[in-house]
Amino acid sequence: MKKPVKVTVTGAAGQISYSLLFRIAAGEMLGKDQPVDLQLLEIPPAMGALSGVVMELEDCAFHTLNSIVATDDPETAFGDTDFVLMVGARPRGPGMERKDLLEANARIFTAQGTVLDKVASADVRVLVVGNPANTNALITASKLKRLSATQVTAMTRLDHNRAISQVAAQTGQPASAIKKIIIWGNHSATQYPDIHHATVNSQPVLEVVERQWFESDFIPTVQKRGAQVIAARGLSSAASAGSSAMDHVRTWMQGTEDGNWTSMAICSDGSYGVSEGLFYSFPVVCKSGHYEIVQNLDINDFSRKKMNITEQELTEERDTIKDLL
Ligand code: NAD
Ligand code: LMR
Repeated sequence: MKKPVKVTVTGAAGQISYSLLFRIAAGEMLGKDQPVDLQLLEIPPAMGALSGVVMELEDCAFHTLNSIVATDDPETAFGDTDFVLMVGARPRGPGMERKDLLEANARIFTAQGTVLDKVASADVRVLVVGNPANTNALITASKLKRLSATQVTAMTRLDHNRAISQVAAQTGQPASAIKKIIIWGNHSATQYPDIHHATVNSQPVLEVVERQWFESDFIPTVQKRGAQVIAARGLSSAASAGSSAMDHVRTWMQGTEDGNWTSMAICSDGSYGVSEGLFYSFPVVCKSGHYEIVQNLDINDFSRKKMNITEQELTEERDTIKDLL
């Protein structure tokens, strides 16, 4: 067993955390030889519920769970932490868009970004899950002075996984056969799930599926999948979100497989003409805890228009909360 690492999860009594925490504690995120110290943050009214989650974590007797701290104090939760999963935020209900949550959730990330910068480990890696995730990541990163904005990412891995699953179903192949899917832009209904570079068993996906299916069925299905889950469950996705959050961190640390990439929303460095500083989802390759944007992909007019639409929405979200930056 290695030396334990500290993993902070905010919103630890919420529904995503109820599936996420048990899998992190079981070693599914960082490895079966990597013990974790869980640092769980909630707001005071949810501390009672959190104590029940802690009892259940204890009752599993996980070999990779070294210790648990449950707190409503952000300084304690973020103290010396190595990984932060920022899940704690209000979810949307039926009929809402994720950006309708901006006002309610933005202040959480303003406050927590400031504390994070003060007390987290210098090498901390942060994943923002709470919606609107890209702009909450932007807010968090804007509070960093000691830490770098490149340490903050937002989750589009759920969209990436949804896209893989749609292509797998359409081609009749397993998810493992599908490579090089891209989610560009915002984790919202303007995101652009792109299969121009994707392959199925090494063959271009667009040689296997109809273009009409890609444009009229696949893109809107992936864009609206979150709303579809809410309509069916009456609650937003939880187990799939938790699973994708673990995929995001695991890939970041353990790397993308050869010949493949993943999608992560990161602070734009201007690649593909995306405005610098926006948290935009790009194709990235990861190795040993670092990520790099995949460069020089051909972008046709169809893709460029869609990439611009989602960038425009992110610019508007940034304008809405500019007073908080
Ligand atoms: P939930 O309401 O079940 O849980 C959220 C938890 O956060 C609650 O327990 C609440 O008490 C806690 N919380 C609120 N303010 C907090 C604060 N300041 N500090 C710490 N904890 C706080 O919601 P959920 O279903 O778990 O979803 C959480 C968030 O994740 C939502 O914003 C949701 O929209 C988002 N989400 C994102 C994705 C994605 O792909 N990026 C996917 C699914 C859900
Ligand atoms: C999702 O994509 O399922 C989440 O972001 C929840 C939502 O609001 O759609």
